[in-house]
Order: sequence, then structure tokens, then C-alpha cells
Amino acid sequence: MTTELQNEIIQLKEEKNAIILAHNYQPKEIQEIADFLGDSLELCMKAKEIDDKDIIVFCGVDFMAETAYMLNPDKKVLIPDIEAECPMAHMLTGEQVIEAKKKYPDAAVCLYVNSLGEAKAESDILCTSGNVKKVVESIEEDTILFGPDTNLGEFVQPFTDKKIIPIPGDGHCYVHKLFHKEDIDDARKKYPNAEIIIHPESNKEVQDMADYVLSTGGMLSHIRDSEKQEFVIGTEVDLITRLEAEFPDKTYYPLLEGAICKTMKLHTLEKLKDCLVNEEPLITVPEDIAERSISAVERMLDASK
Ligand code: 13P
Ligand code: SF4
Repeated sequence: MTTELQNEIIQLKEEKNAIILAHNYQPKEIQEIADFLGDSLELCMKAKEIDDKDIIVFCGVDFMAETAYMLNPDKKVLIPDIEAECPMAHMLTGEQVIEAKKKYPDAAVCLYVNSLGEAKAESDILCTSGNVKKVVESIEEDTILFGPDTNLGEFVQPFTDKKIIPIPGDGHCYVHKLFHKEDIDDARKKYPNAEIIIHPESNKEVQDMADYVLSTGGMLSHIRDSEKQEFVIGTEVDLITRLEAEFPDKTYYPLLEGAICKTMKLHTLEKLKDCLVNEEPLITVPEDIAERSISAVERMLDASK
């Protein structure tokens, strides 16, 4: 049953010919009325194919909405709370990428989509947790400057002969950094029949102890196809909201109840309604940054096919 506020948003969205895209970490009340839910890659692919809408409301963090804008510069891209930033993206500046390129002139630059526009503008190709293996495989150079997430770089290293050099070297997600070896040990004891699935933004030692290391979208498709009944979920807790809605016959345990991305939770139904009424806050990307970043976005989308 949708609430009055949810119904008002649905009506406004239709009146304004808008679409609501939301990341898998959004709170339940937003997930319930989103037109499309997904991981970073799925959201990016969806944003690329939107042609019949005037407004995109992006319930996620800054870098995701910026990518949607780069792919749709003629549309209004709104974000319910403009403060919704990914701290990891802010760990690598454009200047740092330029400096790394000077040091390794023959290397390719592959950046996680969780990065600033000014850093993307200096990159050759982007990647997400869902396509990082394919993207790295598509790169010709033998050395890859990879950032800002050091853990994602360590995740992909065993799958390639190329040398991955992390930039800035200590980039990380504070939410996934919360997981420790002891949490996996505890979960194995507590839920002996459950499969443990972890996100590649987690520390490598934790990744190595899990049964699977997957993006949030990867977790969804794995669980959909799995014969297992119980799963320990090593990522932000609201992925479980989506899993419970889509596959209610299975049981999910968070690896840590406290794995909450605070900025993802800044969006509320009230702010979502206000942003549709006022048609702001608007997300934009300076033209020169968008022009210099779009080929890295497109190259990533091509490599993901
Ligand atoms: P996914 O692309 O796996 O959804 O990850 C995005 C993210 O920010 C994880 O913290
Ligand atoms: Fe950024 Fe981590 Fe939040 Fe993902 S979970 S948006 S990487 S802070």
C-alpha cells in the first residue's frame, strides 16, 4: 500500500514527465516508488536509454547523478538532497590524476565511477564493481592507474596480467571498511547454512574469506539464480530491502547492522516531493568536464557489453 505522500510523488512525476532512478541503497519508501532500481552500472545503462522523459530524479549520490547528466545534457537531472556525496569520490582530485599520469606516461587511467568529474575528465575509461573485470580486460596498456578505490583494484588484480597501480593509494569506502575478518567468522558460526557475499569495496582479507565477491546488482542476480535459502549480505544494509521485496522466500542477514551509507540516506520522500515541485536542486557538470569525461563513460559502456 502506497502512502499519501508516495501517491503525491507518483502523480507529480507523471504530470512533469519525470522518471525516478534509485540506487539499491535507497531507503524502503523510496525504493517502493522508484521507476528503476539498480547498481551503478545498471543505473548508468538506464540513464543512457532515457529519451522520452523531460526530468530525471536521481536518488543516489553525486557521482551517479552527474553521470546521468553527462549522458542526458538536454534533460533536467534533479537530486532530492544536493549534499548526497560519496566521500570516496572526493578522495581523488583531477590534479592527483594528472600527477600520476606524469609519473607513469605509458599507463592507462581507469577510474571507478565513484569519482569526481574533474578526475573522470583525466581518465581513459571508467568502471563499476559490476564490470571491472571486463573493463580491465578491454585495456591495451600493460599498466593501469586505478582509483580511487584501492580495494576494488586489489579485487581485480588476480584476474589480469596487467599491473594495477592504485591512485591515490588509500582511497576507500568508509562503509565497506567496517567489515572485518571477525565479522565473517561470527557470521559463519551464527549462520552455518548461509552463503556469505561481500562487495569488492571491502578489504581484500575480508573478500578472501567470503563465498562470493559481487557488486550489488551481481548479488541480486546471484541470489535470484541460487538454490541456497540463506545469505549473509556484506554491503550496505538497504540492499536487503530490495532482496526482501524481490525474493521474499529467502532469508538475509546483514554482515553488520551498522553498515549504513549516511549520504545515501539523506534523500527522503519529503525532499523527493519538493524537488519535483521546485525542479531543483539541479545536477549539472561544467561543459568542458563533461566533454572530456564522456568518452571514458562511453568506453566503459562498450566494454560492458
Ligand atoms: P554498486 O555499483 O555495486 O551498486 O556499488 C556502488 C557503491 O557505491 C557501493 O558502495
Ligand atoms: Fe560511496 Fe561507500 Fe556510500 Fe557507496 S557506500 S556511495 S562507496 S560512501
